[in-house]
Amino acid sequence: MQILANADLSDFHTFSIEQSCQYLVEVKTIDDIKDVYQNSKWLSLPKLMLGKGSNVLFTQPYQGVVIINRLLGKKVTETADSWHLHIAGGENWPDLVKWSIEQGYLGLENLALIPGCVGTAPIQNIGAYGVEFKDLCEYVDVLCLKSFTIKRLSAKQCQFGYRDSVFKHDLHQQVVIVAIGIKLSKNWQPNIEYGPLQSLNIDGLTAKQIFERVCQVRTDKLPDPAKLGNAGSFFKNPIISQQHFLKLQQTYPKIVAYSTPEGVKIAAGWLIDQCQLKGVAVGGAEVHQKQALVLVNKDRASSDDVVKLAAKVYYEVLKKFQIQLEHEVRFIGSHTETNLANLMIEKP
Ligand code: FAD
Ligand code: EPU
Repeated sequence: MQILANADLSDFHTFSIEQSCQYLVEVKTIDDIKDVYQNSKWLSLPKLMLGKGSNVLFTQPYQGVVIINRLLGKKVTETADSWHLHIAGGENWPDLVKWSIEQGYLGLENLALIPGCVGTAPIQNIGAYGVEFKDLCEYVDVLCLKSFTIKRLSAKQCQFGYRDSVFKHDLHQQVVIVAIGIKLSKNWQPNIEYGPLQSLNIDGLTAKQIFERVCQVRTDKLPDPAKLGNAGSFFKNPIISQQHFLKLQQTYPKIVAYSTPEGVKIAAGWLIDQCQLKGVAVGGAEVHQKQALVLVNKDRASSDDVVKLAAKVYYEVLKKFQIQLEHEVRFIGSHTETNLANLMIEKP
């Protein structure tokens, strides 16, 4: 197990902002993870499991142990009607999607190019282009940090919601996800209901063609973190009441909205765009020119720059639309997770 002291985290998260941690370790086995959590020298230190760092913002130097997930391995079994994929948590999600299509295990194509580890996918129930992780999840295997035993959670026990799951609530910091199970039907059906996929011709359409279209749309719209640091959508799309929506629609007839069982989901990118915030910067952080929902590290941004820019976006949207945006990106403070509201109180 490789251990680095006072490590720079820039290469371990996609915002690529300079920030340090007390220790950085890469784990390749479940025993490695147990060793880190049970190491007597580190018992009092906070610990943070990290995949590819594509959904985090380190707001301060992390005074603890950052654990990089390198658990690898794939197993495939089949039943009469399905393929069952058992994938170790440290595998790369985009590589898994590409590989599964090449092998003829179809159904993951809409989730192409979402950065991150396989073991992180359940946490916010990753989703794109009309499909969510929950639609394909059979189970999630976790290492319980109290008993140090492996438990298997059914998809139902994961309590998946929009960018949400039990791992953000009751099981937050209680477990490490070590593997997932995915079930893919042998009777593959295309899902092309989401906007940019609707123009595909359904006749003879293949999963590979959907995969390629999704990759193309994503590459056109979203900045590549290898070139421009970012963490994808910075905020979630807010869900508001029907009453609030109807009132807004009178003033803004072009408001982009989708009806959901919980209420009306509004496109946060549209809201931010309407506030004329595209290209607006604080220090080195900028609201992306092509997609207002993405904040980017334009020019050696500090985490404070990103936090101040996020606060500006939050207040402008609140003032114009009376909607409180909630950030999707996880804010990691010096010892624990924090959030924009806490940081705005500290630094108004
Ligand atoms: P990390 O950022 O490493 O971790 C995220 C959180 O999970 C942290 O709190 C971490 O402590 C915790 N964690 C990580 N691994 C474990 C584990 N094994 N056990 C327990 N806790 C753990 N998301 C979407 O849903 N849809 C999209 O279309 C999408 N597009 C994106 C596009 C870009 C360009 C980028 C940069 C991000 C995008 N995202 C999208 C967000 C991101 O890809 C997902 O949230 C992804 O699942 C994060 O994986 P990760 O391994 O990088 O997580
Ligand atoms: N829009 C604007 N201006 C903008 C950005 C968007 O008007 O600057 C409008 C678009 O024209 C469109 C609508 O907002 O009508 C929605 O935009 P888009 O299709 O790009 O999707 P999104 O709501 O911005 C969500 C997810 C993405 C996911 C895409 C595709 C959230 C928070 N984001 O983005 O996920 O890839 O749909 O399904 O739900 C992520 O979570 O990090 C992420 C990138």
